[in-house]
Amino acid sequence: MESNLKSMSDLVSLCKRRGFIFQSSEVYGGLGSCWDYGPLGVELKNNVKNSWWKAMTYREDIEGVDASILMHPKVWKASGHIDGFTDPLIDCKICKSRFREDLIDTAAKCPNCGASDCFTPSREFNLMFKTQMGAVEDDSSEVFLRPETAQGIFVNFLNIQSTMRKKLPFGIAQIGKSFRNEITPGNFIFRTREFEQMEMQYFIKPGVQLEFMDTWKQLRWSWHVSNGLRESRMKWAPHPEDKLAHYADVAVDIEYEFPMGWGEIEGIHSRTDFDLKQHEEYSGKNLHYVDQADGNKKYIPYVVETAAGCDRTVLALLCDAYRVENEGDKEKERTVMKFSPQMAPIKVAVLPLMKKVGLEEVAKKIFQDVQIDYKAEYDVAGSIGKRYRRQDEIGTPFCVTIDYDSLEDQSVTVRNRDTMEQSRIAINQLHNYLKDQLKF
Ligand code: GAP
Repeated sequence: MESNLKSMSDLVSLCKRRGFIFQSSEVYGGLGSCWDYGPLGVELKNNVKNSWWKAMTYREDIEGVDASILMHPKVWKASGHIDGFTDPLIDCKICKSRFREDLIDTAAKCPNCGASDCFTPSREFNLMFKTQMGAVEDDSSEVFLRPETAQGIFVNFLNIQSTMRKKLPFGIAQIGKSFRNEITPGNFIFRTREFEQMEMQYFIKPGVQLEFMDTWKQLRWSWHVSNGLRESRMKWAPHPEDKLAHYADVAVDIEYEFPMGWGEIEGIHSRTDFDLKQHEEYSGKNLHYVDQADGNKKYIPYVVETAAGCDRTVLALLCDAYRVENEGDKEKERTVMKFSPQMAPIKVAVLPLMKKVGLEEVAKKIFQDVQIDYKAEYDVAGSIGKRYRRQDEIGTPFCVTIDYDSLEDQSVTVRNRDTMEQSRIAINQLHNYLKDQLKF
């Protein structure tokens, strides 16, 4: 019998206990909704980013970029973020709690203190973080932390199209931090004020956006599935027309069923020619494309974007992987993170049965060989049962145990995380065995 994650607090506690995610500045009492990725969390996050980068840029028609977080302030005027990137904010006059008006029922009581008829009128709150550039603090030095990575791509459209000699359709991909002063962050790393995005803008001829929406919808869905997310916990959520972002004419989200309910992990948006047109107008630079394949027609390309949250993808993978087997059975209960081998932070654990010179020498040599290809862990502390449980909890697909027989028969025991089956493998065949099992 196997059960899934029931509450986010169980995951938060595993993540802290096992070194995935810690509260930011914890020794100072933490900073609200800011989180630090520990040794295992950063491995998992890098696995997500590497998988995305490979899927999105190891192809002929997509190039990568890494743009600056701070951009010319006019970018945000042109993109519509200064005037339109707002949420409706209301306060409870009694307990002073703040809410997004669109997320609560204002006719009911305050979700925090229970008071009724207590809300201030709604006002628009801009979500961009402001800061100052240089030594002088005045309006002219005001800059913003980017609220989406997409604009770093739009302003580089011409640079990349011309230097890489790209013809439409082609895309530009980027992974990087974005910042939003969210009114109600929360649910662990689901909604934070500093987060990482993985975005790709695909530049196309006007009129073919629906066709490319379909292509990218399928590709992005399959990518999440290939990382191990169960399809039964994923769904499409089209944006209703009256809820579309200011730049989009069609948009759909991929949602995952988190313990707190369904939540967006990625958006696929048809952004028309909105952004490039705006940047052409505000910068005065000609951003038209000359289509040699269509009689040198000049036009501003349309864009289909795929916008995934790295932290939300990590959260979905953590929630999805979390299983408890034989719950309530003191002997047999175990918590296992059933990550796909590609996503697992540690691929192989090397465990000498005991802390003994002969065993440790062989084990250390195996560990050194294994870690040339795979992120591995060496652990000699505690009983072998406890060490297996720890590896189960961090989702290590294979444990290699070196026992006294290993010294005689030059073989080791390899334990499979999911089946708990143990196979005896010759040390000189271990590399091939792991390669075959891990499939990369
Ligand atoms: N360029 C389009 C864009 O930024 P979005 O739907 O606002 O679209 C894309 O964001 C993805 O970024 C979301 O699907 C989500 O995964 C992630 N994201 C957005 N806001 C976030 C936040 N406050 N905390 C964590 N992830 C966030």
